[in-house]
Amino acid sequence: MREYSIATIPADGIGPEVIAAGRTVLATLEKRLGDVKFTVENFDWGSDYYRKHGVMMPSDGLEQLKKFDAIYFGAVGAPDVPDHITLWGLRLPICQGFDQYANVRPTKILPGITSPLRNCGPGDLDWVIVRENSEGEYSGHGGRAHRGLPEEVGTEVAIFTRVGVTRIMRYAFKLAQSRPRKLLTVVTKSNAQRHGMVMWDEIAAEVAEEFPDVTWDKMLVDAMTVRMTLKPQSLDTIVATNLHADILSDLAGALAGSLGVAPTANIDPERRFPSMFEPIHGSAFDITGKGIANPVATFWTAAQMLDHLGEQDASARLMRAVERVTGARILTPDVGGTATTREVTEAVCDAIHSSNV
Ligand code: NAI
Ligand code: MG
Repeated sequence: MREYSIATIPADGIGPEVIAAGRTVLATLEKRLGDVKFTVENFDWGSDYYRKHGVMMPSDGLEQLKKFDAIYFGAVGAPDVPDHITLWGLRLPICQGFDQYANVRPTKILPGITSPLRNCGPGDLDWVIVRENSEGEYSGHGGRAHRGLPEEVGTEVAIFTRVGVTRIMRYAFKLAQSRPRKLLTVVTKSNAQRHGMVMWDEIAAEVAEEFPDVTWDKMLVDAMTVRMTLKPQSLDTIVATNLHADILSDLAGALAGSLGVAPTANIDPERRFPSMFEPIHGSAFDITGKGIANPVATFWTAAQMLDHLGEQDASARLMRAVERVTGARILTPDVGGTATTREVTEAVCDAIHSSNV
């Protein structure tokens, strides 16, 4: 029996709904496979915790999470708590504290799901976006001075280090190399941002020499939005800074049909700490409690988690089950269906049970 310990942090809004669905699917995989066991421990951190304790998680939160093999995360965000508090209080301290520097966001059009792009079906859009997850514009450098006065100033400093850029480039080239097309696009803005982004380009060229079999090109981030929209077939693996990839991956999610299907993995490639797996979407107050949250992103990120844990067979089984269900058009309203979270979850569990391969 192979055993894995998983910390779940459902947190806010639809987070608890989709993580509950994810746990059901993991339990079904356990039963179907027979030789894998997931020991799940739940943490009630998030905005409710904040309202009671004034913090999003206890001060020894990271210490408590350290011993787990992986973290399965819902979403943070509440209408009555400022977004920078929820984000910097829980999700970012975990990403930064555990040095999960590679944020990996696969996007493809699943069977049965319609892209808002005309003439773009399964196979036409199959990307993995690698987002630098430890520095850039989200490193927390900057400050405010002269608060409230007319001369008040706020700075947000983008940090790029040779170590940080080199390791994310190497991760992205390696990932591109592992995919059939061996094709990498490096997103940049080195025309306007002439320090950090020029170094980013230089390091990309240096690291590229280690990967002679990978074809790579460079795109300015603004032009990249155009290419993603008009020539999705021309892209495969993509690497971008923390901010650029944050924005591009929301676009990618929308082009693939809905934010509700887009997953993400916050990876510590060196495996010093647990990695964290989550849907890209937020807490979605507008549909919280209605039972219609799309659980597909949360299932897909569970497949990423299984992959990371070395359970490639379980991961592939889960994705096949998800694709069978979307292909049968058992879909939640965000992707044009009428099914509930529970109906989609049950269908995926049935597909896992009934599949012979
Ligand atoms: P959101 O991702 O929560 O929702 C955007 C739109 O997509 C909404 O109309 C929502 O109903 C829909 N949507 C999202 N996930 C869905 C799903 N699984 N199924 C069906 N529809 C889905 O983004 P929004 O509205 O900008 O932010 C809401 C809160 O979430 C904010 O407090 C924000 O800060 C937070 N947030 C947290 C993130 C995280 O925890 N990683 C990421 C993005 C936002
Ligand atoms: Mg985002």
